Amino acid sequence: MRILSGIQPSGKLHIGNYFGMMKPAIELQEQGDAYLFIANYHAMTTIKDASKLREMTQDVALDFLACGIDPKKTAFYRQSDLPQVHELAWLLSTLCPMGLLERCHSYKDKLAKGIAASHGLFAYPVLMAADILAVQSNVVPVGRDQKQHVEVTRDLAVRFNNAFGDVFTIPEPSIRENVAVVPGIDGQKMSKSYDNTLEIFGEGKAFRKRVMKILTDSKGLEDPKDPEKCNVFALYKLFATEAELADLAERYRAGGMGYGHAKQELFEKIDTYFAPMRERRKELAEDLDYVNDILADGAKRASILANETLQKARQAVGLE
Ligand code: ADP
Ligand code: TRP
Repeated sequence: MRILSGIQPSGKLHIGNYFGMMKPAIELQEQGDAYLFIANYHAMTTIKDASKLREMTQDVALDFLACGIDPKKTAFYRQSDLPQVHELAWLLSTLCPMGLLERCHSYKDKLAKGIAASHGLFAYPVLMAADILAVQSNVVPVGRDQKQHVEVTRDLAVRFNNAFGDVFTIPEPSIRENVAVVPGIDGQKMSKSYDNTLEIFGEGKAFRKRVMKILTDSKGLEDPKDPEKCNVFALYKLFATEAELADLAERYRAGGMGYGHAKQELFEKIDTYFAPMRERRKELAEDLDYVNDILADGAKRASILANETLQKARQAVGLE
C-alpha cells in the first residue's frame, strides 16, 4: 500500500494539523510505503514573500521530523523538488471540467476570507491531484476539509484512465472521523486563518495564557457543567486516557470545579505531550544540513515514481 500526504507551509502548525493530519500520517508510515511532502507550490497561492516561504518550508520540515517522521520509512520532500507534478497537472487540467473546480468549497472559502482569486488558487485541486497521482498513491490521509480535493483527484484519474487507458491508481482518502475537526480556542474549527490556534510547539507562560483564553460558557464555579458542550473538554479528549476523561467528566457534572481548573489540566497535558518533540526540534534546528539531506533523499525517491508515471502518461496521451 502506498500512502501520500502533503501540508502547506503557510503558518505555525497547530493541534488541529497535528491530530487531523500529522499524527495519522506518522502512524501510517508503519503500514505501507509512505510519501510526505511540503506543498510549497500550493503555498504560493497565499504567500507572496520569498524569505517567508523559505522560512516556513524549513519550519514545516523541522516540525514533521520532530513529531516522528522517520526518513527511512517515509520519503519526505519539498513539492518544488518534484517539478514533474506540473506537467502532470497540465495533462489533467485539459480534461478537468470547469464545473468540477467551481464546486470546490475550499476555493469559495478562501475567496470569502479575502484571498485574491488567481488562476493558481482556482486550479489548486488539479495540482493536488497531480501530487497524488504522480506517485500512484492508494491512500491519502487528510482532514475532512480536504476530502473533496481527493474526490476531484479520483474523478480526474477515472476520466484520464477512461480516455487514455489505465495509467493512474485511484486513491482513497483516509479521514479520522473522531478527530476530523479539532476545535480552536473560540470553538470554531481550529485554523491558522481564524487566529484561534494552539501551536504544537507553543510553550511557557504565553502558551498557558492562550489555553486560559479558551472560550467557555459563563457557568460559575459551583454549577454542574456539561463536558460534551465544552471546548476545553473537547481538546482534553485528544490527550487523555479513557480513565482520565471519565474522571474529568464526572468533576464537570458534579459542580464545584471551575473552567480555570480544567484549563490548567489541559495545559499540563498538552505541555507534557509535546515536550519531547520540542526538544527534538531544537536539536534538528542546530543541524540543518542533516534536514536538507533528508529532503533531498526523499525527493530522489519520489522522483523515481513520478518519472515513471509521467512517462506512461506522456505516452498514453500521444506526446511521445
Ligand atoms: P488551516 O485550517 O490552519 O489553514 P490547513 O488548511 O493548512 O490548516 O490544513 C492542513 C492539514 O491539517 C489538512 O489536512 C487539514 O485537513 C488538517 N487540519 C487543519 N485544521 C484542522 C482541524 N481543526 N481539525 C482537523 N484537521 C485539521
Ligand atoms: N491541500 C492540502 C492542504 O491544504 C495540501 C496538499 C497539497 C495535499 N497536495 C496534497 C494533501 C496532496 C494531500 C495530498 O492541506
